[in-house]
Amino acid sequence: MTEKFKPSLASVRCIRSLSRQDLAAVIELELQSYSHPWTKGIFLDCFRPDYRLWALDQGGELIGYAVVAYLFDEAHLLNLCVGPQYRRSGAGVLLLRHLITVATHESMHRVILEVRQSNRSAIELYIREGFEQIGERPGYYPAAIGRENASVLSLTLDG
Ligand SMILES: CC(C)(COP(=O)(O)OP(=O)(O)OC[C@H]1O[C@@H](n2cnc3c(N)ncnc32)[C@H](O)[C@@H]1OP(=O)(O)O)[C@@H](O)C(=O)NCCC(=O)NCCS
Repeated sequence: MTEKFKPSLASVRCIRSLSRQDLAAVIELELQSYSHPWTKGIFLDCFRPDYRLWALDQGGELIGYAVVAYLFDEAHLLNLCVGPQYRRSGAGVLLLRHLITVATHESMHRVILEVRQSNRSAIELYIREGFEQIGERPGYYPAAIGRENASVLSLTLDG
């Protein structure tokens, strides 16, 4: 193999289950990413049998994560986040497709989520991946001033 085609381990991405040991790195990304970040306590509360927590690892570094709660036949996407310096490189779509695949195999019938109406990047991503808006929750999120509406998006699963 020539030098040119040697794969670099530092760039290898893999998705695995998130663990409690990841939480320091998760909180760092969370603080960089949200105006109203989740606390460590909220994440700790998500380590339950009916939740799926996914970590996107690149060369040993946590660069993104997703938190999904299963309720009956619905997978509720509660958090999807990619570190600011890794955005627009396909990381978000990788996590999203992974959680959709697993939810399908686990007999979920749809993925549902809330998103701030000002969050254009996330909305673009979800719509591109086939989600449709099915509703709105007025004042769902705290905002710098007052509250912000959420759009409710849904993706029906084939499985
Ligand atoms: C939303 C988020 C997860 C997207 O992650 P990402 O790794 O940048 O997404 P990808 O690189 O996989 O982008 C896939 C597609 O989504 C859309 N997209 C993502 N970011 C976008 C942006 N800033 N503007 C417009 N479209 C965007 C594009 O269609 C993009 O495809 P393209 O790059 O080929 O044009 C990331 O911006 C993030 O972590 N934001 C902060 C946390 C957050 O708001 N999470 C969502 C909560 S509901």
